[in-house]
Amino acid sequence: MANRFAVILAAGQGTRMKSKLHKMLHPVAGRPMVQHVVDQLQQVNLNKIVTIVGFGAEKVKAQLGSSSEFAYQKEQLGTGHAVLQAEDLLKDEKGVTVVACGDTPLIRDETFEALIQYHEQTGAKASVLTTKVENPMGYGRVVRNDQDEVERIVEHKDANEDERLIQEINTGTYCFDNQALFAALKEVSNDNAQGEYYLPDVIKILRHQGDTVSAFLTPDFDETIGINDRIALAEAEKIMKKRINEEHMRNGVSIIDPEQTYIEPDVQIESDVILHPGTVLKGETIIRTGAEIGPHTELEDCEVGEETVIRHSVATSSKIGNRVNIGPFAHIRPASHVGNDTKVGNFVEIKKTTLGDHSKVSHLSYIGDADVGERVNVGCGTITVNYDGTNKYLTTIEDDAFIGCNSNLIAPVTVGKGSYVAAGSTITKNVPENALSIARARQTNKEEYASKFKK
Ligand code: UD1
Ligand code: CA
Repeated sequence: MANRFAVILAAGQGTRMKSKLHKMLHPVAGRPMVQHVVDQLQQVNLNKIVTIVGFGAEKVKAQLGSSSEFAYQKEQLGTGHAVLQAEDLLKDEKGVTVVACGDTPLIRDETFEALIQYHEQTGAKASVLTTKVENPMGYGRVVRNDQDEVERIVEHKDANEDERLIQEINTGTYCFDNQALFAALKEVSNDNAQGEYYLPDVIKILRHQGDTVSAFLTPDFDETIGINDRIALAEAEKIMKKRINEEHMRNGVSIIDPEQTYIEPDVQIESDVILHPGTVLKGETIIRTGAEIGPHTELEDCEVGEETVIRHSVATSSKIGNRVNIGPFAHIRPASHVGNDTKVGNFVEIKKTTLGDHSKVSHLSYIGDADVGERVNVGCGTITVNYDGTNKYLTTIEDDAFIGCNSNLIAPVTVGKGSYVAAGSTITKNVPENALSIARARQTNKEEYASKFKK
């Protein structure tokens, strides 16, 4: 196999996004668009990836890290000029160079691979990935001759009326013979409507030299969408969502309403999981078989065990066991570990807490910085008072303890194994094992006081 290289164009300003955030970093399915391009290209065995950075260079570099090398384009003089910035890193190499745009994040590795193979088979010096679209507005048009061979690409702004009718467009993705590319780039001029050095002009130049140029037409326009504004961004989000959701459905996940279900690329879901409308799964979330998520639930970096049900809730960076019942309206905050066969009911917030197997926090409680044992019942309205304004303290509730309703547990404090805390208590001292602790004012009944008072 010949050497393979890639250049990703990511230096443009992205003016049409009207954003403080650099266009390349706008997320599609939760991941910056340029990252998608790198991720897909990494699947096709490249010797080197060079990303051209300019606007927002530091941030793009920070995002891509060691997955790419970088060349800096000081002034954005056009896509041809952009590729030329990789000259020092690439010009001595022999092989195939793929050029892709950082703003076309939906092109799959299979398509890159097919383009490279087509390029190698045709023995062309340049091959361009094209597609046909209903409305080619804004894209470069592919001009073919009588033999149906590619002659050149004309930008929308430079095209005449007839050329504007052409529906075959340049996707902005190409394969080149590396040395022919850098030689031809030297000849590109900026004599055009935008006064830019256009990369597509390389096609025309190679053609004039008598080199073979080919076009690989993909039937899937969706995949090649270029994101120049927020309308295209929303379109890309929709296409990516569909692609991800369909993959999970093929793997045996039921998605009740795929239009209303948002799953980021790294999420893993086992078969026989049911996702209800309004489910949002982010980061490195893993959902085990038989679980049922949603409606209206957002999980980020969570592991959810088998047959667990989570409704109308939010959970972040936590591990949730098997057969757990969560919600509606529960909030599981980072570093929590919710055991098997537990319950976290409505209006319960849990933070940095371990909840042992078979324990229940059923209603209206805040449990933070706590270590709760097994088979513990936390009554309605219990609060772990974990914060004194400066420091956070731990509450320990040992196995089989029973916390009565509306109790305050002032941390640091331990409620011993098997003991009871009476409802309405404010616990400030440790409770020994098997005790009953009552910490509330005694009730006094003043008989007939009400009738006297009314007179
Ligand atoms: C480009 C193509 C057009 C194609 C379309 C596909 C050119 C001249 N036109 O148009 O034929 O149909 O993509 O989406 O290539 N960039 C730089 N430095 C620059 C200019 C651009 O790095 O000086 C980068 C941009 O960040 C972007 C990519 O190159 O990622 C394409 O630039 P953009 O301005 O979006 O080109 P289009 O007008 O979309
Ligand atoms: Ca573009």
